[in-house]
Amino acid sequence: MIIWIVGASSGIGAALAKEYASTGYTVYASARSEEKLQALAAESTTLSGDIHALPCDITDNDSVLAAVTQIESNAPIDKAVLSAGFYDPIGLDDIHLEHFTSTYDVNLHGVVRCLLALLPGMRQSNNGQIAIVSSVSGYTGLPRAAAYGSSKAALINLAESLQPECKAVGVDIRLISPGFVKSPLTDKNSFKMPFIIEPEDAARRIVRGLDGNGFEVHFPKRFTLWLKVLRLLPYALYLRLTAKL
Ligand SMILES: NC(=O)c1ccc[n+]([C@@H]2O[C@H](COP(=O)([O-])OP(=O)(O)OC[C@H]3O[C@@H](n4cnc5c(N)ncnc54)[C@H](OP(=O)(O)O)[C@@H]3O)[C@@H](O)[C@H]2O)c1
Repeated sequence: MIIWIVGASSGIGAALAKEYASTGYTVYASARSEEKLQALAAESTTLSGDIHALPCDITDNDSVLAAVTQIESNAPIDKAVLSAGFYDPIGLDDIHLEHFTSTYDVNLHGVVRCLLALLPGMRQSNNGQIAIVSSVSGYTGLPRAAAYGSSKAALINLAESLQPECKAVGVDIRLISPGFVKSPLTDKNSFKMPFIIEPEDAARRIVRGLDGNGFEVHFPKRFTLWLKVLRLLPYALYLRLTAKL
């Protein structure tokens, strides 16, 4: 089985690459940092599957198309996990247009570039699963995350929107909504992150979830279920709570 993991040079994506390789998958690992990907690929010698370093910048459409073409020249892609993401928490005083455009270029448009590159091959083979890594921060607006949270909210909407039509042509669209996971991305947070888990734990939960039938894989549930309740609150109460964060 062939899997393409985008955002595999660190954090959740790197842990996921090792988890899938340990179950015998052939993993194509993409991100911009070639050195980190090569180091990851070297680790796969002890695993039952292979990890191939496939550098790619998802803000560059040609780079995305070249990566997909390279994998498909060997075999059709069975599964893709689009985990690349950019997070820069800033408050109102530092907010500027470039912060939004650069966040959306990776988190939203980058994912769209990958999706559009993957769909023709998967439609042709009538087979394939594409997992989009969003975030619980896309459930509701949270302080200092206007760009990041809105990019992740857009991914939730995008996945919901594409799922029915894709299912009809044999392509299984899934949504992944992690809570806090220890990684270079969350190392930027200075606040205490409730129920934070290790990337290896996140990877195991993702593999299990994607093997199952549910559209959304969210974890850890002791955190995500509370957030799902939070979004049902009336705004007057919700905004009073988030003002305290
Ligand atoms: N950690 C959490 O608590 C958490 C919670 C909810 C959701 N998420 C989401 O989970 C995903 C993975 O996050 P993480 O925690 O594993 O963070 P991470 O360790 O910072 O990983 C982000 C990955 O994205 C890659 N990337 C960034 N820009 C890219 C680009 N232009 N082209 C290709 N790859 C690019 C990075 O590699 P290069 O820099 O080498 O390109 C890296 O491999 C993200 O989408 C994040 O939003 C994380």
